[in-house]
Amino acid sequence: MNKGLCIWLMGLSASGKTTLARLLAQELDRRGIQVEVLDGDQVRSNLSQDLGFTRSDRETNLRRIGLVTRLLVRHGAVVVVAAICPYKNIRQELRGEIGELVEVYLDCPLEVCIRRDPKGLYRRALAGEIGHFTGLDDPFEVPSRPEILIRTDQENPQDSLHRILAVLEARRILPAPSDLPLP
Ligand code: ADX
Repeated sequence: MNKGLCIWLMGLSASGKTTLARLLAQELDRRGIQVEVLDGDQVRSNLSQDLGFTRSDRETNLRRIGLVTRLLVRHGAVVVVAAICPYKNIRQELRGEIGELVEVYLDCPLEVCIRRDPKGLYRRALAGEIGHFTGLDDPFEVPSRPEILIRTDQENPQDSLHRILAVLEARRILPAPSDLPLP
């Protein structure tokens, strides 16, 4: 069995978390690693349907993700989380809770996220229809020491994927493909 760990992709809405989480999960799966994805939007439409975006609701949402992640990690899975995770205190708490945690910060300027706006949420938030929007009227506290920093406005998702894999392999968090037993 693999040693479990969590790779947490964090950053503003539209910074590219879901895209990269999918690519990463596909590649890990291809390498025969047990992988699960917990995506913010998906969790919120299931496990956290009752929650909004106040600080307290976000913390509850993230603690729920943390709990599920911890259980999966304990059983040897690699869990890829794609959630904004905007507050320092909760990141620190999650690190304590999950243990094996790799923070990947998807750094993307707010203006670029607003331009991308794939779900039309920034437009609605700027029109005053949605409150507590991260980056606008709710803070995103920049991670001070993420294990990996990715500028998603300067790098394409494939390159970001390879960079994440390279860091994980160099740190022996993941076996390099050449270390894997032959099928
Ligand atoms: S978190 O703050 O609790 O980590 P999470 O990643 O689960 O956030 O959910 C963020 C997703 O919810 C965004 O990608 C976006 O689609 C949607 N969303 C709806 N309202 C907001 C809001 N006020 N702030 C940020 N994202 C929002």
